[in-house]
Amino acid sequence: MAMSETLIAEVKHRAQRERERHEYPEDFPLLPPVPAARYSDPEFAALEQEAVFGRSWLFVAHADQVRQPGDYVLVEHLALPLIVVRGQDGVVRAHVNTCKHRGAALLTEPSGSTGRRMTCPYHSWVYDLEGRLVGYPDAANFREMDPACVDLTSVRCESWGPMIFVNLDPDAAPLSEYLGQVGEDLSEMADLDGRLHLAGITIRDVPVNWKLPVDANIETYHVNTVHRNTASKVLDQTTTGIQLLRNGHSRMLIALREGMPLTGKQPFPPVFEGLGDLPESGTFSYHVFPNLSIVFVGHGFLFLITNWPKPDGTSSYHVHWCSSLSSETEEGKKANDLFMGFNQDVLFEDLAVLPGMQTSIDSGALQVVNLNYQERRIYHVHEAIDHTIGVERIPEALRVPPVLGPFVEG
Ligand code: FES
Repeated sequence: MAMSETLIAEVKHRAQRERERHEYPEDFPLLPPVPAARYSDPEFAALEQEAVFGRSWLFVAHADQVRQPGDYVLVEHLALPLIVVRGQDGVVRAHVNTCKHRGAALLTEPSGSTGRRMTCPYHSWVYDLEGRLVGYPDAANFREMDPACVDLTSVRCESWGPMIFVNLDPDAAPLSEYLGQVGEDLSEMADLDGRLHLAGITIRDVPVNWKLPVDANIETYHVNTVHRNTASKVLDQTTTGIQLLRNGHSRMLIALREGMPLTGKQPFPPVFEGLGDLPESGTFSYHVFPNLSIVFVGHGFLFLITNWPKPDGTSSYHVHWCSSLSSETEEGKKANDLFMGFNQDVLFEDLAVLPGMQTSIDSGALQVVNLNYQERRIYHVHEAIDHTIGVERIPEALRVPPVLGPFVEG
């Protein structure tokens, strides 16, 4: 079992206990105001790009996007343009999409199959799928070249079952170490390549800092307002249990209203049985620092939300919808489309509120963000950002004082 029965019971108990809580928890600190400029300051954004997105493990693709050797996707929302490609040996790797002759982009279509080789569109240098230069025209024009200078630059890439992660830091700890307790809870993920299918991808540009959509994913205080006609009908916002985990990660259960089935009888064969009945007790989710939310809708359907900063200060919102039913069957497609449709509507309700917040921040009308107890996962992410950047590098006026250390578990 991925989670012990004791832990599953404790997660549910924490959520239920919240329903009975009528006062601010005695042993919990007031969260200091968060400087709003953390959502708008270009220098702070540059520090985040360099340290947070430059040194964290980042979920970038589902294995179904690169199912066969030679299949690739371009990842163009990081500081370096990447090709994620499956090799002849079945291993998925990530290379910088920069030809080592004079820098042309090796591949230009966003996804597809490159066959056994990648050929530069400028002067036809040829690379194998492992990034080695294996040929170039008119060899007599070149002296012998050092492979270290002419092979593609590769970056760290690790698969966790069907989930493909990259890390731009060559010295990063392994992915399993980074995931920590999240990886332990969801240990079944490692065996799900080929069984947890990609049902679809939604991408939407949002005119706000990357953290605003992330914040909306990790608190439930807004549910009764923003989702009053959708999710709030079945979820009881007062029954939200949260556990802060190491490395900025966290776990959350928002329980069903009493007597309410989550989605009726689900057609999806269960693939996360190690979570006990958590996925049917409400909306059960994880946040993986910095920008990934893993949200369960039952034991056989989940979605992976990531939000990516863009150079102009706005962001790009991606959802990978995953199902134990393949959309290649009529029955699977019907069920997947239904679940994607409903959940996408709920997610878009969040996005609709956010541009107004960004205007408040950019205009200076909002100087600090005030967070409550139920929004403490947001503060946890802010603390992890400062820790990752190194607090001494952050202008004093933009720092968040660390207060959550004693409340981090697992
Ligand atoms: Fe790629 Fe010249 S830039 S072969």
